[in-house]
Amino acid sequence: SAIYRAGVYGRRPVVPTSPDALADAARRRMTRTGWSYVVGGAGAQRTVSANREAFGRYRIVPRQLVDVGERSLRTTLLGRDLPAPVLFAPVGALELAVQHQRGGRAAAPGNAEPALSRAARDLGLPVVISSQASTPMEQTAAALGDSPRWFQLYWSSDDALVESFVSRAEASGCEAIVVTVDTHVLGWRTADLDLGYLPFARAEGIAQYLSDPVFRGLVEARVRTAASAGEEATSERPTPAAVRSLLSMARHHPGPTLRNLTQPHARAAVETFLDVFSRSTLTWADLAWLRERTTLPILVKGIQHPDDARAALDHGADGIIVSNHGGRQIDNAVASIDALGPVVDVVREWTGASGPGTDGSVPVLFDSGIRTGADVFTALALGADAVLLGRPWVYGLALAGADGVRAVAEHVLAELDLTMALAGVSGVEQIGRANLAL
Ligand code: FNR
Repeated sequence: SAIYRAGVYGRRPVVPTSPDALADAARRRMTRTGWSYVVGGAGAQRTVSANREAFGRYRIVPRQLVDVGERSLRTTLLGRDLPAPVLFAPVGALELAVQHQRGGRAAAPGNAEPALSRAARDLGLPVVISSQASTPMEQTAAALGDSPRWFQLYWSSDDALVESFVSRAEASGCEAIVVTVDTHVLGWRTADLDLGYLPFARAEGIAQYLSDPVFRGLVEARVRTAASAGEEATSERPTPAAVRSLLSMARHHPGPTLRNLTQPHARAAVETFLDVFSRSTLTWADLAWLRERTTLPILVKGIQHPDDARAALDHGADGIIVSNHGGRQIDNAVASIDALGPVVDVVREWTGASGPGTDGSVPVLFDSGIRTGADVFTALALGADAVLLGRPWVYGLALAGADGVRAVAEHVLAELDLTMALAGVSGVEQIGRANLAL
């Protein structure tokens, strides 16, 4: 009710409450490259559309005259008490979102993750730090203080780099490792392709790597090889714009590894990155390798098929994230919300749980298409233990920095709270399939 009360006193929200108006305002503010990268999905954008449209098939049935005077969004996830079942989804190359048309910015260069961190800390909601972050994770961790954070891993083809990322994440206080399994190759992203934008060949997408000692070693080795072979021996080169973006980004980061970046290093970094970014040969058996290297809970992100959820659990995963990467990977794929119920059923069967959702011992999280509090309610009703908020908070960041991120999350939580009240539910653990007309 705080947001309604503010309206009574003439105060407007920091960013629009309507999801379409929010996206539209961000589109007008962001650069064309930034907007296309954030909004874009795979191919003809059919999965992006399906992710939204499918929510319309799950209808909430309100119940009346239940005492809902005292309500709580609080929940427990992986043993941690949280103010609400909502996390900030990992978003790579975030710096791109704060670059504005006509040269303006929502945050100073190098400040996209710090702005996110401020908002997350104010709210107490976890941040999932991306492998592709624009800021080294140690800096994000410092900005987060005691606030919870997880680390999202893109599984590199280089074992030593995977180990390095995981140990940096542990040292940075991350409470879980999220292994994203749906992006071992980049989807056919038409908007990025048409603009010649490869997110991971620009500074916005590889600061996390540049600040890594193992990655840095690979870059040094490549520079030495190129020097001894002579420049002519190497064929294609990253564009001057890509190299310039790396060099200018590096100037804004305090870490010595970044500040010392030279032109040959910047070129070698892009090429090294393209070589080591991912591993398409990864199979379920590899999960055991990671399991041996960390005591942190491992969640597998990008699950859509119930058999994959079962395989993940059989191979030692501690949680599942039902996601299709916001429709950015496969065109014309199943809507993520349609994949949720069957995965929850498998997890319940696996853990022997009874009751409205899972028993929480193996959390099932959901993302891809969450825009409103009613969407969060629907995902929880289908059995999710929590959801990840994706593009909407990025739009908030683009419009108003940390205040924008916080406002977007607050709007979603306020609508979730009102939806619960109107559906006759006073705690998130009570939300179940009985609240839907299935
Ligand atoms: C993402 N996503 C993502 N996921 C991940 O595991 N690592 C990453 O680095 C990124 N980067 C990224 C960048 C951008 C611009 C977007 C929009 C998304 C996927 C993200 O975590 C989440 O799954 C989706 O954003 C959910 O879909 P919606 O709700 O944004 O449509």
